[in-house]
Amino acid sequence: MKSWTIEERYKVLNSEEEILNLFNKIKDSDFRQNYHIQPITGLLSDPNGFTFYNNKWHLFYQWCPWGAVHGLKYWYHVTSEDLVHWKNEGIGIKPDTFYDNKGAHSGSAFTDGNNLYLFYTGNHRDEDWVRTPYSCLAIYNDGKLEKLEEPLFGPRPDYTEHQRDPKLIYDSENDKYYILIGAQDKNEKGSILVYTSDSFEKDWEFLGPLKIKGIESIGGMYECPSLVLTEDKDILLFSPQYIKLPDRANSTNHSIYFIGKMDFDNLEFIPDKDYEFLDYGFDFYAAQTAYQSNKDQDPILIGWIGLPDNHYPSEEEDWEGSLSLPRELKIKDDILLQVPIETLSFLKDKEVTSHQLPKACKFEVEVLDDNNFYLNLFTQKDHSGGYQIKYNAEEKLLEISKEHLINRFNEEIGEKLAVYFENGIKNFDIFIDSNSVEIFFNGGEKTFTAHIYPTKEEHYYEASSNLNTKVWKLKSSNQNNFVI
Ligand code: FRU
Repeated sequence: MKSWTIEERYKVLNSEEEILNLFNKIKDSDFRQNYHIQPITGLLSDPNGFTFYNNKWHLFYQWCPWGAVHGLKYWYHVTSEDLVHWKNEGIGIKPDTFYDNKGAHSGSAFTDGNNLYLFYTGNHRDEDWVRTPYSCLAIYNDGKLEKLEEPLFGPRPDYTEHQRDPKLIYDSENDKYYILIGAQDKNEKGSILVYTSDSFEKDWEFLGPLKIKGIESIGGMYECPSLVLTEDKDILLFSPQYIKLPDRANSTNHSIYFIGKMDFDNLEFIPDKDYEFLDYGFDFYAAQTAYQSNKDQDPILIGWIGLPDNHYPSEEEDWEGSLSLPRELKIKDDILLQVPIETLSFLKDKEVTSHQLPKACKFEVEVLDDNNFYLNLFTQKDHSGGYQIKYNAEEKLLEISKEHLINRFNEEIGEKLAVYFENGIKNFDIFIDSNSVEIFFNGGEKTFTAHIYPTKEEHYYEASSNLNTKVWKLKSSNQNNFVI
């Protein structure tokens, strides 16, 4: 693995020529995605500022231009009309002020119909490298972006330096704005701080930490909090860190949600039950949510395929990261369903009739009985190896293992994960792209996302006879044009 000096990681990008070679070097890599958002160069991490504004979807990603390393972060901007075909728009937020001198870190967006308001974390560090996080606002209109000169607020002294990722919430019931901040308290426990204002551009007042009824803190830091308010149930989600959780092997980074009701008056979220994982896979983190312009349509969630401390094979090529497919959030019988966005059907090409996998394809699988089944993706010609998906009907346990693939990575975090299905598995869809596999079980009741880097020898699949498997080749939707 390449080692980076602080100067290299935090270098300011002055002209596009500085990264044109990097762009040209990676653009034909076998691992480049075909229909997922990916970095033009360097590292992509969290999705940011996801909104529908001016008849288009706007989305940004955390971007470090120089390579597969967490260094100076920019917001890189992409837009889409259908959530499937994305256009590169260039840099959204540059870290170029005192308050964000060492990075424009994660945040969210809000639109009043006129402007797009981007709430982000200014990651300030002084000459002794001491960090002060500021909650900042940038206003985007017609391709131009202006930052407010002063931050909306600075950090709370009664919490550690880990205070970031402002999520703007508008509560129509009491006509108030709220900002949620992911934080760590002085006992090194994760927390969500709540601020409120009548006007989202100023006068933010600190209310206190959000209580989650009946739940003690989960882990040492909560990153990227989000809250989806619906008429009936609300969904609270965040990414807890610095803790191992059951069923997550040795990972200490997770994405979880609670379904329940938000009580702003008492600063409390009242969950119906304990947390669930947003995704049970090896690589899913820092999810962002957005409402559609028509409030009767379901909200949408998108995450980062990757985890903060993980390393991946494309790092050798000086780039890494992908965003997940957008998922519609539906609550049915008090269960959250995450359903891949319908417009993905635009990508459907020919049906695949052999057992050879195209680089981009979709599986639609029906489980024909209540017995054990298996599906091995990316096997070799002699049927060996592969990304092995295996269901044990008696234990109702699904096990997914990546230990038989040629490219192995993050072995110490765990190469095998198991998911329990109380009511069994009836069906599942799988979206495969050059470096990712996303599985949606039982219409999105549970999802499993992973980075996979198959070699040229690994492009077959095998399935047990009790699976009715249809495979579709998918068209490419990436423009991948070089815009800074
Ligand atoms: C989550 C995160 C955020 C932070 C950003 C920096 O992956 O650590 O908390 O704002 O990444 O890139």
